[in-house]
Amino acid sequence: MTHQAASSRYATMSFQRCGRSGLLLPRVSLGLWHNFGERAPHEVAREMLLGAFDLGITHFDLANNYGPPPGSAEETLGRVLRRDLGPYRDELVVSTKAGYEMWPGPYGNFGSRKYLLSSLDRSLARLGIDYVDVFYHHRPDPETPLEETMGALAQAVRSGKALYAGISNYGAADTRRAVAMLRELGTPCVLHQPAYSMLDRQVERELLSVLASEGVGCIAFSPLARGRRTDRYLGGVPSDSRAAGPSPFLRPSDLTDALLTKVRSLDGIARERGQSLAQLALAWVLRQPAVTSVLIGASRLAQVQDCAAAAGSPPLTAEELRRIDAILGTDG
Ligand SMILES: NC(=O)c1ccc[n+]([C@@H]2O[C@H](COP(=O)([O-])OP(=O)(O)OC[C@H]3O[C@@H](n4cnc5c(N)ncnc54)[C@H](OP(=O)(O)O)[C@@H]3O)[C@@H](O)[C@H]2O)c1
Repeated sequence: MTHQAASSRYATMSFQRCGRSGLLLPRVSLGLWHNFGERAPHEVAREMLLGAFDLGITHFDLANNYGPPPGSAEETLGRVLRRDLGPYRDELVVSTKAGYEMWPGPYGNFGSRKYLLSSLDRSLARLGIDYVDVFYHHRPDPETPLEETMGALAQAVRSGKALYAGISNYGAADTRRAVAMLRELGTPCVLHQPAYSMLDRQVERELLSVLASEGVGCIAFSPLARGRRTDRYLGGVPSDSRAAGPSPFLRPSDLTDALLTKVRSLDGIARERGQSLAQLALAWVLRQPAVTSVLIGASRLAQVQDCAAAAGSPPLTAEELRRIDAILGTDG
């Protein structure tokens, strides 16, 4: 069976170039970190992927370790590509990464050439495709020389197994060095993937200006602060929410009264603007000229649809930005 994609898929989504590269990304991209592994219902995952593509979300982001179990999110997308989206491969940007622990022993973690290149081969096998569009180093490795890690990314691109190289979770100084090395190797860094949301504004200090001046794109991950900048928790902790699940990255104890007070105030601004809080949170990240795309997660198609509409949000006024800053305070 092949999915018949909506003919309207490019009608509303807007696209932005990754820095000074030729690669255009949708302003809203979909990540498969949660809810796409073997233990998630496949039909829901499939519905989200097909529904996203129908809305012009052409970019799906993975890593070798997304699941659980690790690797199974790549297998899920592989199944959907085989069954439904294969004919649309040239309309899709598929990324994956290596950098966190993936298999036992000294060669299944961090940033050696040995790990990165074998991991990419395994990712391609799980996805059932010949190349990924972007291959990232997932996090800095304090022990492997950066030259070796960047050399492995360059090799991935030269071999045709990746079209572009990217880095994730690198600080400003390491980013400058990595970008210079990749440029020297003739395989420029097109994309950096840092955390950025109303709850985590660290990139505003230096990284965004480094990326702008180096001509590197920025795709902001967890722009909804894993759900803490949406209306998801306004009425308590739903049993099917991330905070209620086993994820160590979001616990009910993270949903403090102080956090929920801010969420209510931000929700008020969103309502005045005629949009959902998720849409406001995404428009707020997208206001930065250096940000190419926001990389959302979702547990159901309705969330993908709600977030996709943020690409067409009216710009935030100076007064709205001032009010948001006042609510966020110094700790987001
Ligand atoms: N490079 C890295 O180190 C790194 C690290 C983390 C993430 N990432 C990437 O970033 C992607 C997104 O991360 P994330 O899932 O943490 O992102 P997020 O967008 O901050 O949070 C997603 C969660 O917010 C809730 N949500 C989404 N849309 C909503 C809406 N319209 N209304 C109400 N609630 C909504 C859902 O929670 P429920 O599940 O509770 O419904 C969803 O699972 C990942 O899939 C991955 O590709 C990369």
